[in-house]
Amino acid sequence: MKTFTEDIASKLIDGKKVSLSIQEDLKKQVEEIKANGGKIPHLCAILVGNDGGSETYVAAKIKACENIGYQSSMFRFPDTVTEDELIQKVDAINHDPDIDGLIVQLPLPKHIDVDKITNYIKPEKDVDGFHPVNLGKLLLGLPTYVSATPFGIMQLLQFYNIETAGKHCVVIGRSNIVGTPVSVLMSRNTNPGNATVTLCHSKTKNLKEIALQADIIIAAIGIPGFLKGDMVKEGAVIIDVGTTRVNAPETKSGWRLKGDVDFDAVALKASFITPVPGGVGPMTIAGLLANTMKSAKKEIYK
Ligand code: GUN
Repeated sequence: MKTFTEDIASKLIDGKKVSLSIQEDLKKQVEEIKANGGKIPHLCAILVGNDGGSETYVAAKIKACENIGYQSSMFRFPDTVTEDELIQKVDAINHDPDIDGLIVQLPLPKHIDVDKITNYIKPEKDVDGFHPVNLGKLLLGLPTYVSATPFGIMQLLQFYNIETAGKHCVVIGRSNIVGTPVSVLMSRNTNPGNATVTLCHSKTKNLKEIALQADIIIAAIGIPGFLKGDMVKEGAVIIDVGTTRVNAPETKSGWRLKGDVDFDAVALKASFITPVPGGVGPMTIAGLLANTMKSAKKEIYK
């Protein structure tokens, strides 16, 4: 008889391991490019204000670039920056032939129109995959930059050989950057994919009954501990996208990350489950770096 810890350990999807293996592959590609005298991929980040989470995420992205041999640059602005100032910077980066990928870290201050800034980024350099042209291509099944979180989820399902064809996948949350694109990817005629997808959101009735029918649940609603043990059927695959900072006096920082899944109760029933942290989170960096390589190699836009 397995102990609780042994049982959970055998079900864990290790995002850190998969992310590092993708990064290792990208590092090899950089070495090949260097050996052939080609252009080293260059990722540029714009960071506005002093949000702790954004600082950490951008620092991690820059560090990952260094680790695999990419060039990187970062431009910082105070949270009093105007839309015009940001647009000018985006415009300059759009025209800089050395920069392959640009991300504007979100969230932006309230006085900035996020859609306006996103629309200014040249689709060719939009390695976040947030531009309407890139999201439109995703919807049509054309080659595009898949945004980091949906990319990460699909890679994890693939790496762990999780059967998705004909399965019922319930996505909880309809955001533009996770729920909506991942529901499209899961329903496409690909592997992973070919699932029958139900997209649930804040107005969904009988969410528990729907979740109980799911073979795969992707929880991306941003409410810590939302998915309870009694909402999950035996053997379901659970992908937890939530990363809410909750108070944790026992930690040095005073907070810890909590997912959208009530982990201990759900893990007992699941056949596979992503932990938070260490599941989907680390995969997002791999997705961003993979898109930057695609941009440098002109794989999407010739
Ligand atoms: N803020 C949280 N996640 C992301 C992301 O993937 N890209 C950007 N630009 N900002 C974010």
